[in-house]
Amino acid sequence: MATLAAAAMSDEAVDFVCGLLARLTPREGSATGQYFYRWAQAKFGKYWRHADILTALWAAATLIRPTSYLEIGVHRGRSAAVVGAVCPQCAIYGFDLWIPEYGGASNPGPAFVQGELRAVGHRGSVALVSGDSRKTLPAFLRQHPDLYFDLITIDGDKSVLGVATDFANALPRLKVGGVLVFDDLPAVPVLGRVWQRVIRRDRRYVSWEFGHGQLGVAVAVRLG
Ligand SMILES: C[S@@+](CC[C@H](N)C(=O)[O-])C[C@H]1O[C@@H](n2cnc3c(N)ncnc32)[C@H](O)[C@@H]1O
Repeated sequence: MATLAAAAMSDEAVDFVCGLLARLTPREGSATGQYFYRWAQAKFGKYWRHADILTALWAAATLIRPTSYLEIGVHRGRSAAVVGAVCPQCAIYGFDLWIPEYGGASNPGPAFVQGELRAVGHRGSVALVSGDSRKTLPAFLRQHPDLYFDLITIDGDKSVLGVATDFANALPRLKVGGVLVFDDLPAVPVLGRVWQRVIRRDRRYVSWEFGHGQLGVAVAVRLG
């Protein structure tokens, strides 16, 4: 886990993510993204320590080279694009309700995400399933009983029930040696209890959390 954490906090991760964000369609009304990384690197130099969902996914994809990736909560395809750019042949399975104007940015849906993935060089298969993941994911997995994932991101419904249900549905399909990425723990502190109960208390996982202020990411590796 220390290796994955070091990779997620590396300059290489930040450089990759900055380059990737520059290739994606800019979010309306948001001038953050790569500017934040560059500002912090310039201001704090070698002392800066940072990880987020994008650098964590770069680290996981670079270290384990997934062939199958599940993402709950795709939005505009930013995090899927990290995985797709690092592993162009990886099969990507995304689930989203496409809630309009999510987090202050438009949420255009599957065709837009397909375009973003192509723009970063992803060439593998893409399945984007629309609807509430609490229903669509178990239905999809029932139809694909042999499908297991090397890498899973849970970043959709942020309610306790939504997160707990997504964990319960997705985790049985995480391969041994696979990586789980969970966004926004510090932003919604009550979700820490779900992470504690489902991941930290379960000896089949080793985990790592990075947070500063309201931002942060949590990562787990399935050992058994
Ligand atoms: C935080 S965004 C995902 C961001 C994305 N992972 C990224 O890093 O670019 C959350 C997404 O989850 C979706 N969402 C919210 N509730 C959902 C639900 N019950 N089922 C499926 N998707 C949901 C929203 O439509 C939104 O697009």
